[in-house]
Amino acid sequence: MPSTHTTRPVVPIAVLVSGRGSNLEAILEAIDKKYITNGAAKVVISNRPDAPALDIARKHNVPAKILDDHGLPKKSWEYDQRTIRLLQEHGVKSQDGLILLSGYFRILTPEFVGLYERRILNIHPALLPAFPGLNAQKQALDHGAKVTGCTVHFVDKGVDTGPIILQTPVPVRDDDTVETLSQRILREEHRLYPEAVRLFTDGMLTVKERRVLLVE
Ligand code: GRF
Repeated sequence: MPSTHTTRPVVPIAVLVSGRGSNLEAILEAIDKKYITNGAAKVVISNRPDAPALDIARKHNVPAKILDDHGLPKKSWEYDQRTIRLLQEHGVKSQDGLILLSGYFRILTPEFVGLYERRILNIHPALLPAFPGLNAQKQALDHGAKVTGCTVHFVDKGVDTGPIILQTPVPVRDDDTVETLSQRILREEHRLYPEAVRLFTDGMLTVKERRVLLVE
């Protein structure tokens, strides 16, 4: 009798970075250790030529590309078109690819987001919709929040506004500084982002209006 088991195609993954790349490393390690089995890292693209994340990509034998955005606005369709060309050259297409933002300090244009609709994820160091934008950990401390955390979400046309996939709370301690709080959140980020990528690449996420649901 023919087997009914179908193997799921491997999802080609690109990671867009600007800096340190610790989340990139967590994801590449999750692929190496086969925690993520249905995703393959095809390219890492940095808008900063000196981003340490590029070395992390090279260490994991993933093509590390620089698209220097010096002198360009933070949001630029011209720049995004160059990124899209590079993504497509590396097989990360809008029909079946996955783009991960990992400390990427650019804002994607609506055209880019529309092309890769529901195929772009981001991680944010707060429990969205609280404290969106820059310096989320400082925002939480300044506000006096008792709990903050991290969020993985789909990217939509706003900043940190897309449907939420996973969240982890992190308590704020009385003696926390931005540094100590950021470190504790980061530890959770490194667990949460690979988990979200695994769910996506295993085809287990579906979006109903704003709600992301798990499907078998
Ligand atoms: C992380 O805190 C992430 O939540 C935010 O930017 C930081 C990137 O860190 N979006 P890294 O480059 O992944 O180490």
